[in-house]
Amino acid sequence: MFANICSVWYNVLKERHADIQHVKMLKGCVIMNIISLIAMEVEGACRSRNNRFGYGVWSHHIISVAEYAKIMALELGADVEVVQLAALLHDYAGIKDYSDYGNHHIKGAYEAEKLLLMYGYPKDKVELVKECIMSHRGSLNLEKASIEAVCVSDADALAHIDNVPSLLYLAYNQKGMSIDEGMEWVNSKIQRSYSKLSRYGRQLIADRYEATQRMLSIA
Ligand SMILES: [Fe+2]
Ligand SMILES: [Fe+2]
Repeated sequence: MFANICSVWYNVLKERHADIQHVKMLKGCVIMNIISLIAMEVEGACRSRNNRFGYGVWSHHIISVAEYAKIMALELGADVEVVQLAALLHDYAGIKDYSDYGNHHIKGAYEAEKLLLMYGYPKDKVELVKECIMSHRGSLNLEKASIEAVCVSDADALAHIDNVPSLLYLAYNQKGMSIDEGMEWVNSKIQRSYSKLSRYGRQLIADRYEATQRMLSIA
């Protein structure tokens, strides 16, 4: 039953986004599983004209968060599937509708629940995914209720530190900042991201963090 639903949805989504770039982005995803389905759903939202962040939020943020989340989950013994689903969906609400950005952790949890239940994902695991999304935001410093939530929060921060060009793009192109404003904004985002990392997260990104600081002439 679940496999049939997956098959139907995969074909629908494949037709909707059937181009080479999309196939490249999804390379490595195992077809017919929930992670592939959610990846296609989120990638589709990133491709939409409604997405105010541009397609780079998929190619230079979400994919990176999902990769770091998997590394963290394997290292810390968390549920890898839950962590990857939450990583894919953590910014989904703001991508779909920018007016929800201020509360995208709350709206995102609601959207994730709707989507995952529609695909028949188990309710107890849906709750875990929701918790991860609810507590991922570095700016709000929310308590992490599970090891999975730590993985997603860390992965989000690691992806920011690892993708300085995309932060600069956001600052200059999308927020229209001056050179100094942009540097300051990126600097504070990197600092905040680093400060919310767990000990393992800091170990993972130590070299990159130092290089980033040198590049931004902070150190
Ligand atoms: Fe976010
Ligand atoms: Fe994010």
